[in-house]
Amino acid sequence: MTRLLFVNAAQVVTCAGPGRGRRGAEMADAGLLTGAAVAVDGESIAAVGNGDSLRRQFPDAAEIDCGGRLLTPGLVDSHTHAIFGRARYEEQEMRAAGIGYMEIARRGGGIHSSVADLRSRSEDELFDLALPRVRKLASYGSTTIEVKSGYGLSLEDELKSLRVIARLQKALPVRLVPTWLGAHEIPLEYREPTARRREYVRYLVDEMLPAVANEKLASFADVFCEPGVFTTAETREILDASRGAGLAIKLHADELEPHGGAELAADLGATSADHLGAISTRGIAALAQSTTVATLLPGTMLFLGRSSQAPARALIDAGAAVALATDFNPGTSPTFNFPLILTLGVSQLRMSAAEALVAATVNGAAALGVAKSTGQIAPGYSADVALWDADDFREIPYWYGDRRCMGTWRQGKPCHAL
Ligand code: NIG
Ligand code: FE
Repeated sequence: MTRLLFVNAAQVVTCAGPGRGRRGAEMADAGLLTGAAVAVDGESIAAVGNGDSLRRQFPDAAEIDCGGRLLTPGLVDSHTHAIFGRARYEEQEMRAAGIGYMEIARRGGGIHSSVADLRSRSEDELFDLALPRVRKLASYGSTTIEVKSGYGLSLEDELKSLRVIARLQKALPVRLVPTWLGAHEIPLEYREPTARRREYVRYLVDEMLPAVANEKLASFADVFCEPGVFTTAETREILDASRGAGLAIKLHADELEPHGGAELAADLGATSADHLGAISTRGIAALAQSTTVATLLPGTMLFLGRSSQAPARALIDAGAAVALATDFNPGTSPTFNFPLILTLGVSQLRMSAAEALVAATVNGAAALGVAKSTGQIAPGYSADVALWDADDFREIPYWYGDRRCMGTWRQGKPCHAL
């Protein structure tokens, strides 16, 4: 079995601690060590400690010289929509001219235009488009990336999207967590007359879900729960059924308008509630008292030109577990740059650099239900690490827009090298 010894790091940010999301004040402690070495045995972290004693303990380990730089857990990007066809740059100008995101959707743009586009493409074509995109996401420091379907909205096109994710997983060393988002929007063919939306919900539950579950193509089910998209009652119905079929659940909640999405997520015991740009005071309290991770996506609010951001401080101060993610997608967050999201976490959400890093590692892992094995540099954890051209962890959010990641390892194997 391959043994590795990471030596000569200026700092090792371990995020070590309990194998669950960090809540409230716990998020301030990123487990910073100076002058520590990290031993890897096979796929797992074996030990963290003094370099000389680890050399004696692991005499046959291949040494990796960190060159006085920063070592962190590989980032965990817990929310992306990476399976899509064409870019949607025309909508950016429409929003600048005062046409809102929901209005663009009502006119058949937005998610609908990505759906028409994805349906016209073959699985091979989608794979060829997604492969370099996911590689690029990984090049910014992620070793685990959640990827959603959601631009198919028919049995055939959702299965096609999820099969692309399965093929990407075979082709790439980064870990992918597949999510079925058949409930991303009511497709145009189910919008008239209004009663047809009910048929779409039944189609999701009775036809799409069993097929997705049978083929074991997804770990999670997700719903875009938002006024004008899926109601809280519909969301509950879809996610209850999904859980019944063996999938874990998460939801897009209170993204643009407060409507009880966070409360519903807490009530359902969802693994995460994502967006929360318009969460209510009651929603904050509900998440703080639940195990549901509050996943914030500040790149989306920035790109949509919204003047407000999710209340990260209020969530953390109330005792919630907050994660950060890119929300990489063609409509609202076309960025590959996860460290830039950490910049927004500090500058816009008023998190500390340590909180932002915890939000992008251990809490990202918790948002994907894998915090017992992933997101920490601690004995027994998956040897997923990132090496950065920085000597202080606060440089990750500081050099905004830069790509400081020099390489990542997943399960002890090189995952992405620059
Ligand atoms: O997370 N909010 C819903 N879904 C995506 C956007 C999808 C799109 O506009 O294509 C999001 O922002
Ligand atoms: Fe999203």
